[in-house]
Amino acid sequence: IPVEPFDLVIFGATGDLARRKILPGLFHRFRAGQMPSDAKIIGSARSEMESAEFRTLVGAAIAEFVAPDLRPQDQLDAFLQRLDYVHIDATGDTGWDALQKILRPDTIRTFYLSVSPALFGAIAERLSTHAIATPQSRIVVEKPFGHDLESARALNRDLLRHFDEAQIYRIDHYLGKETVQNLMALRFANSLFEPLWNATHIDHVQITVAESLGVAGRGGYYDQSGAMRDMVQNHLMQLLCLIAMEPPSKFTPNSVRDEKVKVIEALDPVPLRDIVRGQYRTGRDNQSYFDDVENPDSRTESFIAMKLTVGNWRWANTPFYLRTGKHLRDRVSEIAVIFKDPPHNIFPNKMEGRKGNALIIRLQPDEGITLRTTIKEPGPGGMRLTEVAMDMSFADALGKDLTSQDAYERLVMDVIRGDQTLFMRGDEVEAAWAWADPMIAAWEEAGQRPMLYDPGSSGPEEALMLMHQGGRRWRPIGD
Ligand code: BG6
Repeated sequence: IPVEPFDLVIFGATGDLARRKILPGLFHRFRAGQMPSDAKIIGSARSEMESAEFRTLVGAAIAEFVAPDLRPQDQLDAFLQRLDYVHIDATGDTGWDALQKILRPDTIRTFYLSVSPALFGAIAERLSTHAIATPQSRIVVEKPFGHDLESARALNRDLLRHFDEAQIYRIDHYLGKETVQNLMALRFANSLFEPLWNATHIDHVQITVAESLGVAGRGGYYDQSGAMRDMVQNHLMQLLCLIAMEPPSKFTPNSVRDEKVKVIEALDPVPLRDIVRGQYRTGRDNQSYFDDVENPDSRTESFIAMKLTVGNWRWANTPFYLRTGKHLRDRVSEIAVIFKDPPHNIFPNKMEGRKGNALIIRLQPDEGITLRTTIKEPGPGGMRLTEVAMDMSFADALGKDLTSQDAYERLVMDVIRGDQTLFMRGDEVEAAWAWADPMIAAWEEAGQRPMLYDPGSSGPEEALMLMHQGGRRWRPIGD
């Protein structure tokens, strides 16, 4: 899709996310020739500096986060020429007129707020009162979008006072991951899976987002959030929606998002007995959650597992098990759709230990899809059955270049193209908080302490039990 000329303003342009993801992502798209040659990227932050100094900072960030063979000097120099810097006081009056002057009158303006949500309202207001935002402008906001339903509503109100919903792009970077988008292609561009995609044929679904790192370095934020707010309410919820939603009638932003909202609204309340919260801790080395967040009384979870049910016809009696945590055995994100056994077994005594058909969609590492199938074991030993994986790695099938793009890179280009499909709508975020809030309130009211788990393990034992109670098993985290 061709990209129209644009001016992109990044608030918080010297911050970690901009340095790591947004600016390197823009550079990759520039190199790929996807940016109009007159595109302007304007950095803005609290510190005073000249554009030249900002270019030097961005050059250093790209040197740090982009492999040398992907950043030829001539292209890097050409990219840096697209950059300007304006010092703006987000909550004051400094810098707004300078910004207005630098922006071109008839160009689509995109404002990327890579700043604390506490500043969303102030920036939106100033963009509006200084007449910098035009009806064609777009505003991008980063996670976390609220801490609960009330704060999310307040953020929506602040933004909607100055921008229409069609101008607002709420980022959930999981929606920019290649495999996540492929979920929609898998389901709705094939006739093979959709007829089986329901409670009649699917026993359960497992969604795992396991991380091997702890929370050291960002304990202040994390301890106020925990795994539920940091990962489940947004990233895992998005994965669940894409797996569980009805086929939209069109691939348009609102058709897709309408169907996702319906899934969230259909989620049954989750009783505390179906939730296991964990916290990593060990006496052996210094990898305790308490140390990482510098709060020896913390009751915040660094791991959560839960069993969900979606109260609609398609999914009645097919549970969805969600699990995510820090400091686990490996960094693995996957969705496993586990199918029911065949209704009638004609191979007596040959099926023991069989796990059954499963479709495993791997988000990271090694993005791809595996279909676990039962076949006859080769050889003359009679009708012996075994299971094999029909395995497809996107990198092998499609070439590395296609899959090595970062989620932010795709999402920023979608904003520039004006495609909201992969961004959360206001009602969607609110529905997800409305679902999460009562659970959080229930464990806070009960004064619940998280279960302990060893760093490098698969989480607390109780999470395994949650699955075993249903006669099921989690897939292992890592090899
Ligand atoms: C972020 C969370 O949104 O997602 C982090 O705040 C988490 O805690 C990260 O580590 C995971 O993203 P990814 O892309 O590395 O799986």
